[in-house]
Amino acid sequence: MSFNTFGHLFRFTSFGESHGAAIGCVVDGCPPRIPITAEEIQRDLDKRRPGQSRFTTQRQEPDAVKILSGVFTDEATGLQVTTGTPIMLLIENVDQRSKDYSDIKDKYRPGHAGYVYDVKYGITDYRGGGRSSARETAARVAAGALARKVVPGMSVRAALVQIGPHKIDRSRWDWNEVDNNPFFCPDPVQAKFYEQYLDGVRKSGSSIGAVIEVVADGVPAGLGAPVYGKLDAEIAAALMSINAVKGVEIGDGFETATMSGEDNADEMQMGNANKPVFLSNHAGGILGGISTGQQIVARFAVKPTSSILTPKRTVDRYGNNTEIMTKGRHDPCVGIRAVPIAEAMLACVLADHYLMHRGQVGEGVAWPFEKR
Ligand SMILES: Cc1cc2nc3c(=O)[nH]c(=O)nc-3n(C[C@H](O)[C@H](O)[C@H](O)COP(=O)(O)O)c2cc1C
Repeated sequence: MSFNTFGHLFRFTSFGESHGAAIGCVVDGCPPRIPITAEEIQRDLDKRRPGQSRFTTQRQEPDAVKILSGVFTDEATGLQVTTGTPIMLLIENVDQRSKDYSDIKDKYRPGHAGYVYDVKYGITDYRGGGRSSARETAARVAAGALARKVVPGMSVRAALVQIGPHKIDRSRWDWNEVDNNPFFCPDPVQAKFYEQYLDGVRKSGSSIGAVIEVVADGVPAGLGAPVYGKLDAEIAAALMSINAVKGVEIGDGFETATMSGEDNADEMQMGNANKPVFLSNHAGGILGGISTGQQIVARFAVKPTSSILTPKRTVDRYGNNTEIMTKGRHDPCVGIRAVPIAEAMLACVLADHYLMHRGQVGEGVAWPFEKR
């Protein structure tokens, strides 16, 4: 299977499957002398880790990361830093229960990847979905912890903004609330509602979709390249590559179809420090595929988990009609654990484009230009 590598200059290749010995990635192209510890990477992984509340899968995967290469102690500071060589990050798989899948080994889960893997490769690792399992996303989160440190002063945060038809009230948005509830929800009132709502979904053995919003602050203007390396296109591809994502929007996204040119115009005025300020951000911080220096804003929808207890019609590998119900330990709403994955993917895209920008234009141009 090819295409396991993400990025151009900041690149990582992930490996491993749900019920194999380990998963992880090799990060290549990370600049040297960036301080990094396993504990820092672990902090991000712990956000994605399952079994932390009754609203995510009860699989107990500690996701303990080991840095196997590419770091060394800087004599001047005593800190562990990157050396500019490949950084291998390894996470062992310790909570596999392959027997959960023995009943459905030959049957295709509607909405899961087993059928297409079989059609394409003639073999599929049915245990936990094999390579199609979202366990692979732990590798992305580990790489993302490094990517966050590549762009000086950048911070990337994500939050869950909708479960099923129930959106948050954006006037109550408080970033401090995101880590105070099991949903990574910035609206504390809606987070309370999600508790009883998702309890109902979970107890009935069903599942539900969600929307996640991810924003990056401190991104310099100028990242991204016309025409085939547009920053928005690369962000969309990176977010779309997350398991179960079925729609991505940048800035006001699909809402812009309902807006007039006047409503959508992000007007500009000269601000302090001889720099322009934008009076709004409908564009999500990107114009012409290039970052404006504003907040980068993206949103994506994840579908409901396909593994549900309700019997559904399907076929087996041998061409027979049959029924399937999926027991085992599944996320009733995969959107919750997608929050740290979203942060990681956006950080990786921005780190990649930061390095490409630096490679092509160095320090950049001195704007505004003098009148001739
Ligand atoms: C964080 C996360 C956890 C997931 N957990 C499950 C799960 O427990 N059971 C399941 O059937 N699918 C789960 N998925 C979704 C599947 O991995 C995904 O639907 C499947 O690989 C098919 O790919 P597609 O939905 O992108 O087409 C999860 C996705 C994410 C992002």
